[in-house]
Amino acid sequence: MNRSSGKILSLLIALLMGLAALFLIGKERTAEAAGSENCGCHPHKAEKAFIHLPVKNGECVSCHKPSGQKHPKVKKEAFLMTDKGKVGLCNECHDRKDTKKFVHPPVASGDCLDCHDVHQSDNKSQLKGNGAALCFMCHEKNKLDRKYPHKPIAEGKCLECHDPHQSDHKYMLKAEGTNLCMKCHDKSAFAGESVHAPVATGECNSCHAPHGTSFHHLLKSTVPEEMYQSFDKQNFDLCFGCHANTLADSKRTDVETNFRNGIINLHYLHVNKVEKGRSCKVCHDPHAASQPVLISSKISGFGKWRIPIRYTKRDVGGTCVVGCHKPKSYNRINPVQYL
Ligand code: HEC
Ligand code: HEC
Ligand code: HEC
Ligand code: HEC
Ligand code: HEC
Ligand code: HEC
Ligand code: HEC
Ligand code: HEC
Ligand code: HEC
Repeated sequence: MNRSSGKILSLLIALLMGLAALFLIGKERTAEAAGSENCGCHPHKAEKAFIHLPVKNGECVSCHKPSGQKHPKVKKEAFLMTDKGKVGLCNECHDRKDTKKFVHPPVASGDCLDCHDVHQSDNKSQLKGNGAALCFMCHEKNKLDRKYPHKPIAEGKCLECHDPHQSDHKYMLKAEGTNLCMKCHDKSAFAGESVHAPVATGECNSCHAPHGTSFHHLLKSTVPEEMYQSFDKQNFDLCFGCHANTLADSKRTDVETNFRNGIINLHYLHVNKVEKGRSCKVCHDPHAASQPVLISSKISGFGKWRIPIRYTKRDVGGTCVVGCHKPKSYNRINPVQYL
């Protein structure tokens, strides 16, 4: 090797070292100067469908607050995070989510990131799961799986009824009692001349379970789907959970029911039959009716035909006109003589 080539080599080495130094200095600016453009070493944080706005805007340092140490030589310690990224950080920019009467436990404990990804996600609000799948990360799905699920449950719409963070109503419900149900159901079906006591007091849940049950119509117990069947009091468990089954038990009574002609029990006569015993709903609406004693104004006939019934309540009895039949009356004191 001659002198000139030696010189060139040492120059080259010096140049390389200089470049390397420059490169390192460039890389090791204090983290204060680190803006979004300097986070390129990290897996992309802003590419999914839903990106947290400060992340989208490249404001990494609004959360990863520079500590003044050199990054990336110093790794995590180069940045500080309020409350280690827990709720205290979120509260720097968001309203608190634990101010109401009922707070979801993971919200109360400040574990916002159990449900939200702080940077981005494929789901709205950077959620870690979509719809009910989010809830089932912590709640047992099979506890809510019912033979007859309520339609919004079947569709995974938990948030139609529950607030995910907090509410002034128990179970973080979005409304109380009947008001919750009336968000989707028509109020007018639950009002009228007579209203069933538990409906009037807003206790839909005395008969229905809000998520679903193993009985038709979300009912908590049995009540026949059919209009007619052989009588068995177990088929009417729902009604007899609150009413004495004796109202339809015996042929004769002078106390068990007002639906009697003298002492002839007309509930027994209509309901308690081996064949074609009537269901309660042949006469009563379980919610409300435009006539007294929850007597429906129409009852099911053949196929889709609905037969009108007109019922008049009297002091000691009543009169009923079914379709175009002759009026039938009953009287508890002076029994009507039927032909
Ligand atoms: C709204 C606050 C916030 C913003 C803005 C933010 N981060 Fe984060 N970052 C966090 C929190 C909180 C954690 C801890 C996450 C965890 O524990 O799940 C974190 C963790 C990280 C981590 C380590 C864990 C991982 O997910 O790889 C990196 C790297 C990171 N952030 C980079 C960035 C970059 C780059 C940006 C800007 C494009 C950014 N962050 C913007 C709050 C934020
Ligand atoms: C530096 C400020 C800042 C911090 C810290 C911050 N956010 Fe945000 N966040 C925003 C802004 C700005 C928006 C967009 C405006 C809005 O919707 O309020 C937003 C929106 C959101 C949204 C709604 C997204 C949507 O599209 O519905 C969620 C969820 C969210 N942030 C969660 C969090 C959580 C959880 C934390 C704590 C880990 C947090 N944020 C910390 C600024 C911040
Ligand atoms: C159990 C899961 C869960 C937890 C824990 C949780 N969130 Fe949410 N968050 C949600 C869901 C679900 C939504 C979407 C609500 C909607 O679409 O109606 C949401 C929406 C948001 C929104 C946007 C809409 C709004 O209400 O302002 C913000 C902001 C937010 N969450 C912040 C937080 C903060 C801050 C925490 C911690 C204190 C937190 N979340 C904890 C599930 C959760
Ligand atoms: C990160 C875990 C987690 C996620 C995700 C979660 N929960 Fe919870 N939730 C809990 C814990 C823990 C409790 C308290 C123990 C219990 O009742 O199971 C609770 C309780 C509840 C309660 C009863 C509150 C009370 O007052 O008794 C309701 C209602 C509820 N969660 C609904 C939801 C809904 C709806 C979702 C989805 C939007 C959801 N949860 C997602 C953890 C979670
Ligand atoms: C139609 C409204 C409605 C929908 C939709 C709904 N809930 Fe509920 N949920 C309620 C009501 C009402 C209660 C109060 C308990 C009761 O009356 O039996 C409740 C109670 C709860 C409870 C606490 C009591 C228990 O049974 O453990 C949890 C947990 C819960 N719901 C989770 C969910 C989840 C998860 C979803 C979605 C898959 C969901 N809910 C959808 C109305 C609803
Ligand atoms: C978010 C909307 C929503 C809310 C809130 C709601 N429901 Fe429903 N409910 C529905 C839908 C949708 C159906 C299905 C209607 C249909 O198929 O015609 C339904 C059906 C029902 C059925 C009939 C099921 C059947 O098989 O015949 C009952 C009973 C019921 N809901 C009771 C309630 C009660 C009680 C509440 C209050 C705790 C309530 N619902 C709140 C949407 C809702
Ligand atoms: C005393 C028990 C009882 C109470 C209380 C009750 N229901 Fe029902 N509900 C029933 C029965 C029984 C059926 C089935 C009727 C049938 O077979 O046609 C039913 C059916 C329904 C249906 C579906 C069929 C229809 O009539 O549209 C809805 C919706 C409903 N109830 C909502 C409610 C709501 C909302 C409340 C509270 C305001 C409530 N129920 C209170 C017993 C009850
Ligand atoms: C959760 C309890 C409960 C259930 C279940 C229940 N009822 Fe009632 N019902 C009452 C109460 C309370 C009254 C008012 C006091 C009384 O008359 O016993 C009432 C009254 C009635 C009345 C008289 C209404 C009036 O205006 O005079 C009829 C008819 C009736 N119920 C039918 C039924 C039928 C049919 C079923 C089954 C589908 C049923 N009930 C299920 C609690 C219930
Ligand atoms: C054929 C029509 C009819 C059928 C079917 C029927 N009811 Fe009645 N029910 C009446 C009439 C009419 C009254 C009003 C009696 C009066 O006050 O004069 C009545 C009254 C009642 C009352 C108020 C208390 C009483 O006994 O006077 C209850 C509770 C009741 N029915 C429950 C039921 C139950 C439960 C079933 C099903 C097992 C049922 N009803 C089936 C017509 C019927």
